[in-house]
Amino acid sequence: MDVLINRLGARGDGIAETADGPVYVPFALPGEKVSVRVGKSRGDGRAADLRDVLSPSADRQAAMCRHFGPGENGCGGCVSQHLVPGAYTDWKRGVVSAALARHRIDVEVLPVISVSPASRRRVRLAFRNLAGGMLIGFRSGRSDRIVEITECPVAMPEIVALIPRLRDFLAGHADRGEIAITHTDKGADVVVFCRKEPDLDLRMDAPAFCTDAGIARLAWSTGEGTFNAEPPEPVIVLETPSVDFGGTTVHLPSDSFLQPTAEGEAALRGFVLDAVGKADVVIDLYAGCGAFALPLAEAGKTVTAIEGLAAQTAAIRNATPRVGGAALKVAAETRDLARQPLRTEELAGYDAVVLDPPRAGAAAQVALLAAGDVPTIVYVSCNPATFARDARVLIDGGYVLSAIQPVDQFLWSSHVELASVFRRA
Ligand SMILES: C[S@@+](CC[C@H](N)C(=O)[O-])C[C@H]1O[C@@H](n2cnc3c(N)ncnc32)[C@H](O)[C@@H]1O
Repeated sequence: MDVLINRLGARGDGIAETADGPVYVPFALPGEKVSVRVGKSRGDGRAADLRDVLSPSADRQAAMCRHFGPGENGCGGCVSQHLVPGAYTDWKRGVVSAALARHRIDVEVLPVISVSPASRRRVRLAFRNLAGGMLIGFRSGRSDRIVEITECPVAMPEIVALIPRLRDFLAGHADRGEIAITHTDKGADVVVFCRKEPDLDLRMDAPAFCTDAGIARLAWSTGEGTFNAEPPEPVIVLETPSVDFGGTTVHLPSDSFLQPTAEGEAALRGFVLDAVGKADVVIDLYAGCGAFALPLAEAGKTVTAIEGLAAQTAAIRNATPRVGGAALKVAAETRDLARQPLRTEELAGYDAVVLDPPRAGAAAQVALLAAGDVPTIVYVSCNPATFARDARVLIDGGYVLSAIQPVDQFLWSSHVELASVFRRA
């Protein structure tokens, strides 16, 4: 059937409003007439496959990566390489505005800060040993199939170059699973998630392989790699991977949280430091390894960092301040903020709260913040939908939200981050 695409959805699909409800067409753009094959039901409408673009939009461009596109061989990482740059950033900004509008929040959304291509320092790949050999790549957008990639305009070239080397190294030693690769100041930090334990041959080969491939640490996890799972077992540590958070060096635990790009992290950190301003006593919730807490302490503030993973809390505690710098006034505590959010009386005495929760947002914590009287709340989010839900609670609790800064660290995907500040009226 032929349809006219009316708008672009939050997931990057073209949406055609038809008499039978919306039809969601990946890789189609607003204004385009396209031929589609309509498939399963999706939400209030139907999903469809793009067969042909009958009248292309002026905003359509050739994708920069050979793995982008519909079909089984299309890599599932990117959804919008076919959109020209201006229309692309307008779409991401629009995703933030639409999420806010759903909660009746009328506030300026600033132009998007985008990171450079080839800057992503953290990726998660899938692998599977098949009769034809070991496959490593991103999952296809259409199925569970693994798409082997030979180029990626998003990830750092050092990471892309590691993929064939890891494929050869793991062949014969691992059956299926996932691999997390993080580029750090000491080289790559690699975690293999696989139910099968690493065998003796792999352990024997690991030192030479990692030295040659520039891998600082190779660790193995037989668990699922979910929040609160057992930490991965180190197979070989040539150097402990570390990063620099604006002057302070942090040794990263295996598979720890790190913002996907150093550029995006710097933009978010700049926003947080500005928004905290002169506030002196600050609490950083969902602190990760201290990307905000440590620079705030470097700036002379007294900081408490709260994080759910004990290994990350320890990394904050053990961070090394810049040479010649003063000792950092930072305390770090491990706490599950979904089950045990900070109570209003525990929040008393802080001049500012910084929070950067996971995609689910921070409903329980925000309800208590809204009932408290901390003067400044700086909220960083990787999910505009849960952010808008939480923002509504803070606004109803008497906070005033000023302009929102979107930061696009997940280029050409449907994800967008944002930073915001709420002040007690
Ligand atoms: C989006 S990251 C932000 C980390 C840090 N602000 C940064 O920029 O690197 C969210 C962090 O929240 C932690 N987290 C997730 N669920 C949590 C919970 N229920 N309680 C406390 N921390 C949690 C994760 O381990 C992760 O480090």
